[in-house]
Amino acid sequence: MTPEPTELITGIRELTTQTDGAPRLADAALVIADGRIAWIGPASAAPAADLRTDVGGRAALPGWVDSHTHLVFAGDRAAEFEARMGGQPYAAGGILTTVAATRAATEAQLRAAASRLRQEAEAQGTTFLESKTGYGLDLASEVRSARVAASVADVVTFLGAHIVPPGIDRRDYLDLVTGPMLAAVAPHARFIDAFCEVGAFDVEESREVLEAGRAAGLGLRLHGNQLGFSGGVRLAVEIGAASVDHCNHLEPADIDALAASATVATLLPACDLSTRQPFAPARRLLDAGASIALATNCNPGSSFTTSMAFCVATAVLQMGLTIEEAVWAATRGGARALGRDTGSDAVGVLRVGGRADLQVLDAPSVAHLAYRPGVPLTWAVWRQGVRAGGHSPAPLPA
Ligand code: NIG
Repeated sequence: MTPEPTELITGIRELTTQTDGAPRLADAALVIADGRIAWIGPASAAPAADLRTDVGGRAALPGWVDSHTHLVFAGDRAAEFEARMGGQPYAAGGILTTVAATRAATEAQLRAAASRLRQEAEAQGTTFLESKTGYGLDLASEVRSARVAASVADVVTFLGAHIVPPGIDRRDYLDLVTGPMLAAVAPHARFIDAFCEVGAFDVEESREVLEAGRAAGLGLRLHGNQLGFSGGVRLAVEIGAASVDHCNHLEPADIDALAASATVATLLPACDLSTRQPFAPARRLLDAGASIALATNCNPGSSFTTSMAFCVATAVLQMGLTIEEAVWAATRGGARALGRDTGSDAVGVLRVGGRADLQVLDAPSVAHLAYRPGVPLTWAVWRQGVRAGGHSPAPLPA
């Protein structure tokens, strides 16, 4: 097999690597070979490569790691959104509107829609993302959603426990989710999740679902404390979940529990805005020593965006994070929430030997992500060493 040409990317004014030793370098370059980073260092010392791409004094950083999305769905809930902006509260009930539309769609339609969202995300710098099932909620529809998710996302999470669908008794549905549905979906999934909230599943039901998933070999994550003090955060920590997502309503004891644990608090600022929930207490979590991730929660009901940059800007401008903290949470933090922040297949970090998943901004520093909110700054994206998105001319000037 002919080896792929090596590529030198130079002219990087500010390189955010997210490595522990040297998280940020000035006037840097890197070399990509076979989809991985072969060299990183000062531009003045860069080795030769087959191709040379000069990014002209722009900032480079790892591609975004979006650790919470629901990409597999059909239909649109703009009317529900509009009513909410007119004062209606967000309630989990809207999920059933999407379940009906999703069940009515063909697998090809679901795949096309999910893949369009994946491309939209990639064009904006996302190089690794998770997607959940959860809009099928019967055995055949959940398996189909898992297949579609596996075809567009890097990591699949089984969310049969999103809400109890109509026409089935609650206990029967839990038996289905933890039994035949789990058995059928598990081969396509890496994680199991549950929506632990009033109107969805309580703490003991969520525990039952996650324990069944663990017994089937899946990792654990949980939607918790989105609309109230659901007890989800405490459950996630107690059960050793990789991540607990939303975290809008936290008591001091929840923050202490997260800080003393390896569970990542995944915060979803676009969802907080779109549901008019109070922002998750990002500053208090970080100050207490908890790990946080930022993710889009792309879904048609509570957060219809694929823009990680919007989440980063919001986290800085509204949630009290520094730029460095927000960018870390949207890259390495997301990777940690997915159990992918260490080892040879780590994402969200640029290091020699690691995956060449990176983006270049049309800006000299990552500060511009919040300094110029709303401006599409993604200029070029490489995913596993291959150009994947951004608005720069392709190929770039040598
Ligand atoms: O993460 N919270 C539960 N699930 C989604 C919302 C789903 C919907 O409203 O369709 C979320 O926000």
